[in-house]
Amino acid sequence: MKTPQGLQPLIDDGIIDDVLRPLKSGKEAAVYVVRSGGDVRCAKVYKDMAHRSFQQRVQYQEGRKVGSSREARAIGKGSKYGRKQQEVAWKNAEVDALYLLRDAGVRVPEPFGYFHGVLVMELVTDADGLSAPRLGEVDVSAEDARAYHAILVRQVVLMLCAGLIHGDLSAYNVLIGPDGPVVIDFPQVVSAAGNNAARTMLLRDVNNLTAYLGRSAPELLDTWYGEEMWALFQAGELRADTELTGHFEPDESEVDLDSIRQSINDAREEALIRQQGREAAEED
Ligand SMILES: Nc1ncnc2c1ncn2[C@@H]1O[C@H](COP(=O)(O)OP(=O)(O)OP(=O)(O)O)[C@@H](O)[C@H]1O
Ligand SMILES: [Mg+2]
Repeated sequence: MKTPQGLQPLIDDGIIDDVLRPLKSGKEAAVYVVRSGGDVRCAKVYKDMAHRSFQQRVQYQEGRKVGSSREARAIGKGSKYGRKQQEVAWKNAEVDALYLLRDAGVRVPEPFGYFHGVLVMELVTDADGLSAPRLGEVDVSAEDARAYHAILVRQVVLMLCAGLIHGDLSAYNVLIGPDGPVVIDFPQVVSAAGNNAARTMLLRDVNNLTAYLGRSAPELLDTWYGEEMWALFQAGELRADTELTGHFEPDESEVDLDSIRQSINDAREEALIRQQGREAAEED
C-alpha cells in the first residue's frame, strides 16, 4: 500500500520495513499493520491535536507531572504553547503507560518503541494469527464472561497498584487474544494518586466492564469490585495478588457515594433493559 505520511520517517530510519495494511482509524489515531524487524507488528500514528477537544484533556492532565512551571502554566491556560507542549505529553503518556504497565505484569501489547510520534507495538492476534477482535465485537458465553471479568478486574488492580487508572476502559479497548483479554489504548491514563477524578474514573472503568459482561453473566451485576479495590487502595492495603470478593459495604460518611452509586446503577439498569429487549426480540 502507499505509505501513510506519518510512517515514512520510520521507513527511512529502517524501523519498519513496510506497511502491510491499515487496521483501524479511530478518533485519535490510525493503526497500521507493519513489518518490522522480521515480525508483523502494529504502528499507532496519532492524529493531529487539532482534531481533538482540548478542554476535556485538562481534567485528565491534572495528576500528570509536567516538566517546568512555565509548561504547567501554559498547559493550564490552554495557550498555543500549552497545546503544543500538551500534545507532546499526550503522545508520550500512552507510551510511558504501556512500558510501565508491561513491567507491572498487566496484559498489554508488548511495546517496541516510540519513533517520530509513532508507537510501534506487538500486534495482538487471535488464534488464527489475524488481528484480534475487540471484546465488544465477539459473542461471549456466560462462562467466558465470568473468566474475562475476573482477568480484567485483576488487570485493573495491577494498574492501580502501579499507580494508574485506564480512564477509558470499555469493551472497545479490550482485545480478545488466544489467551484471553488484552487491554489497549492508554493516552488518557490518569494518576491514581494525583487526580481528584481518579475514584470516579476507576469506578466507571470497572462498571463499564461489569455492565457489558453482565449482559452475558447477569450475576456479575451484583458485584462491587471497583468500590472494593478503591477502598483497599486508599487504605494502602491493595496488592497485586489481593483476593477480592466483589462485596462492598458503603461507608455512609462519604458524601458523594450516593450520586456515584446512582450513576452506576443507572448504567447497570440500562444494560439490563437492553438485555431484556434483546431477549424479547429473540423470542419473537
Ligand atoms: N496492539 C494491537 N493489536 C491489535 N489491534 C490493535 C492494537 N492496537 C490497536 N488495535 C486496533 O486498533 C483500534 C484502535 O486502537 P486504539 O483503541 O488504541 O486507538 P484509538 O484511536 O484511541 O481508537 P478509538 O478512538 O476507536 O478508541 C483498536 O480498537 C484495535 O482494533
Ligand atoms: Mg480505542
